[in-house]
Amino acid sequence: MESLQRISRASELEPFRVRFLGRRGGSLTGIMRRLSEVSKEDRPQLGQLANAVKKEITTLFEEKKKELARKPGIKADKGLDLSLPGRRIPFGKLHPVTQVMEEMCAIFEGMGFAVAEGPDVETDHYNFEALNIPKHHPARDMHDTFYVSDSILLRTHTSPMQARIMETKEPPLRYIAPGKVYRCDSDITHTPMFVQVEGFLVDRDVSFSDLKGVLTSFLQQMFSKDLAVRFRPSFFPFTEPSAEVDIACVICGGKGCRVCKRTGWIEILGAGLIDPEVMKMVGFDPDEFSGFAFGLGVERIAMLKYGINDIRLYYENDLRFLAQF
Ligand code: DAH
Repeated sequence: MESLQRISRASELEPFRVRFLGRRGGSLTGIMRRLSEVSKEDRPQLGQLANAVKKEITTLFEEKKKELARKPGIKADKGLDLSLPGRRIPFGKLHPVTQVMEEMCAIFEGMGFAVAEGPDVETDHYNFEALNIPKHHPARDMHDTFYVSDSILLRTHTSPMQARIMETKEPPLRYIAPGKVYRCDSDITHTPMFVQVEGFLVDRDVSFSDLKGVLTSFLQQMFSKDLAVRFRPSFFPFTEPSAEVDIACVICGGKGCRVCKRTGWIEILGAGLIDPEVMKMVGFDPDEFSGFAFGLGVERIAMLKYGINDIRLYYENDLRFLAQF
């Protein structure tokens, strides 16, 4: 009886039946068979007893069988054992580019910038005209634009947010605008969709040294606190003067390697003082207000931070790659 009570799974039923009630070798069957060895007087009594025991065990066995069948979920007959602990469900996490973008935003928010987002599908006006890039301006060639129609396109940069915000708000303004941008371009350093963080500040008496201070502080918080930063003269239609900003190569520390093409420097962003023409188009008086603007590529920063040499890895959706961050 004890061994019947101990049974907790359907898979243990059959061995029990075979052991006690089985036609061949079952212990009760064995006892019945050997009744002939007992004296004639004792035989009927022993026979009755053996039958009663068999009946009792059979009844209890059948009850046990029903009990196990009622037990929720445990269906060992089908090879499914729900008493086993569950499989671990893997947690999802933020994409590495999103993680870096959020880190960048947090640094600028720490310097008092507010975050604003705008549309991926943009008008030619905000993407180009309002940024001092008229039709047929050669600067448009740099953008490999995806056009939806003559006047609608996928934004090629986050700079249109400068015009959108300046149009609706009064200085002082201090904003960053993170978001996806699109260009018809694909190789180890370009994907047709990538992420930029635009930033700008407009107030009275804003100078180039304010821009240098904000960007140097940002880059040092992002990479390392004594990182060397240099500003090189450049041209953008919406800034004057314009600069491209380099950091000392984070791979070789400035000694020269493949990543920095042996120069020791890596170009990391474009920036400048907001062009008076852009100010005028949104109705700000350039004699009263001045400002700076900058644009950063998030994948580029993420690549340098994590030592990734092919931008396309970020967008192949291979979990073995993505799960490392
Ligand atoms: N919009 C530029 C690009 O995508 C980057 C840029 C350069 C943004 C200079 C700026 C700036 O705000 O001042 O190539």
